[in-house]
Amino acid sequence: MTESQNSDAGQERIEPFAHSPEEVRARHESNRRGWNEGAAAGYTPEIENTIRFIREGQSNLHPVERTYLAEILPHCDLAIHLQCASGKDTLSLLNEGVKRVVGIDISDVHIENARRTSAALNLPATWIRCDVLDAPHELDDSADLIYTGRGALCWLHDLDAWARVIFRLLKPGGYASIFDDHPITWLFDPQVSTLQYSGYDYFHSCVSEVGWPDTYIGDIGIPVDQQSRKYECLWPISRVFQALTKAGLVVVHLGEHPDPFWEQFPHLPEEIRRKIPNTFSMLARKPRSEVPG
Ligand SMILES: C[S@@+](CC[C@H](N)C(=O)[O-])C[C@H]1O[C@@H](n2cnc3c(N)ncnc32)[C@H](O)[C@@H]1O
Repeated sequence: MTESQNSDAGQERIEPFAHSPEEVRARHESNRRGWNEGAAAGYTPEIENTIRFIREGQSNLHPVERTYLAEILPHCDLAIHLQCASGKDTLSLLNEGVKRVVGIDISDVHIENARRTSAALNLPATWIRCDVLDAPHELDDSADLIYTGRGALCWLHDLDAWARVIFRLLKPGGYASIFDDHPITWLFDPQVSTLQYSGYDYFHSCVSEVGWPDTYIGDIGIPVDQQSRKYECLWPISRVFQALTKAGLVVVHLGEHPDPFWEQFPHLPEEIRRKIPNTFSMLARKPRSEVPG
């Protein structure tokens, strides 16, 4: 279940998976416009708050991420954050012991926010506005850590290409960390106070819609039918595993957690919500001696 499925705005369509690279790009480009609208309207206009937060040495990492990243972070020269939004989590990595960060995001507005924040603090951060699939080759073999998740995977429409990017950006021996919505959450209706089947197919679900949920970004001041259409996919955990291993990475950790990172089921009593996996975590490693493709 994704943020925008939990939408009062509706206007949702079930979509087939993208069948060609052109279709993947068209969906990502539509998502870029959608995220620019969402970001401009207030998803992260809190630049001043983020500056204060980072200056105080705080970190926005999720407690679950800390459990499996704590020993890795202090040894990272460079972490690349894929789908970094306005960079609060990216800059938090510096407060966790990482020496330099690169944030990559498709949204012009988010990357501009991130630039302003790190410039104000004079931090060792570089920001790149591009589709994650176009991460620049100058960064190949450079990252000790690829960090991503918390609402990232659902926006992507070619998971194999994504995994290949992770592989090429990592140094041999480097890690990729993914902590994201558990795909099974798509199967439950977010609008009700019981666990009720949503109608989605765990194995084949892609949706598109306009509008943002009230619990997330809400009203952005643009009539819903004039907003850019956003495209999302449910990626089963096995697909994430297969994409990473096919790209040459070795999955060294998989976790399923009752802990959410956003209010996905606002009406569900806590004691029921904690009985389903809200999130999953995965850590994959690039072998020290590369195994060809
Ligand atoms: C829910 S936000 C993730 C936020 C992130 N966990 C954080 O707070 O730092 C999803 C982000 O993915 C970005 N995004 C979506 N599709 C992308 C793509 N194809 N390439 C790069 N970024 C993308 C959006 O612009 C948005 O900032």
